Amino acid sequence: MVQANQDHFINISSPGRINIVGEHLDYNGGHVLPGIIDLATTIQISTNGKNSYEVSSLAFNENLNRDIHHYDLSKTNWHNYVIGVVHGLNKLRPNKIKGFKADISSKIPVGAGLSSSAALTCGIARGLNELFQLNLSKNELMFVAQKAEHDFAGTPCGIMDQYTIIHGQKNHLLYLNCDELTHEEIKTDMSDFQWVLFNTNLKHELQNSAYQERVQETQKALKIIQSVHPQVKSLAQVSMEILVDLKNQFSTKIYNRVLYVVQEQKRVEEAVLEIGAGNWSELGKLLNDTHEGLKNLYEVSSKELDYLVELTQPIKEVYGARMMGGGFGGCTLNLVKKEAVENVVMQVLDAYNTKFKVPCRPIILQ
Ligand code: GLA
Repeated sequence: MVQANQDHFINISSPGRINIVGEHLDYNGGHVLPGIIDLATTIQISTNGKNSYEVSSLAFNENLNRDIHHYDLSKTNWHNYVIGVVHGLNKLRPNKIKGFKADISSKIPVGAGLSSSAALTCGIARGLNELFQLNLSKNELMFVAQKAEHDFAGTPCGIMDQYTIIHGQKNHLLYLNCDELTHEEIKTDMSDFQWVLFNTNLKHELQNSAYQERVQETQKALKIIQSVHPQVKSLAQVSMEILVDLKNQFSTKIYNRVLYVVQEQKRVEEAVLEIGAGNWSELGKLLNDTHEGLKNLYEVSSKELDYLVELTQPIKEVYGARMMGGGFGGCTLNLVKKEAVENVVMQVLDAYNTKFKVPCRPIILQ
């Protein structure tokens, strides 16, 4: 057991995540296919002998100093994630958390759709759990992290990011059932391929509001379906037959949202089979189809993401490409033949820079 005393430091490494297919399915009770990456947020945490905590962020060059029971929202965005986690842990284990000091540094780019915020909340939750011997389970920590996003950062996110960061293993994907909160580990043999991310370096105003809108739209659609088919528990369970049958109950927009969810759910199941069979070209096609769905039916892409995908999809050595994450910014995910990575990266950076006059950052995952 770890002892919490003034000289005791705990080091936590909390990774970011990618998601192969299964976008916007977590809050719709679907299956997703994420995995942790080798970029992580590192947190060094120790007691400070006070009744308050001091957190410093190297990335933002800022500090947070707070009394342990002071939960008012801060004007500084990243503070709220930490405050939210302390709040959640205090609720589960009253008076167990004492003063502490935490130093955060991160290799996960912020706003890139790689879950830097979940890496932070999960990392702080894990660190405090260990430092103060709270004996909370992985799932309790994951829910504390998710609730911090909901109640303190104002993002009604699903559970995919926190689940992956807490349960994920290196070199494995998680075939994660977001309804039952169970997973299977899927081993991937990446000896001939590499996942390459292209970061648009853009964060749109729309990001948060559109995400909330999609959550509400899909909840509304589920209610309509349940009024006719009460046995349907989540949107990801809806069959094509039910959807077509109820088509005239939906506006075109809402119909398209549900259509995307139903199709994407199917793609996740197919992707697991293709990975198992080592069928990379088929997996790539699924990625391309996901992009099409996110762009035209779910409408969460952006001109920069579309441009990146239009650039890479036609390249022979790129087996598949799509926008990844919540949308309206962040990265595209590309499945690239190993020997062509350098060449592909060069082509993309030049073209993107010329068009948008913003550098596009490649991230080659190990
Ligand atoms: C964000 C959210 C996740 C998930 C994805 C879209 O990353 O935090 O819960 O909904 O968007 O798949």
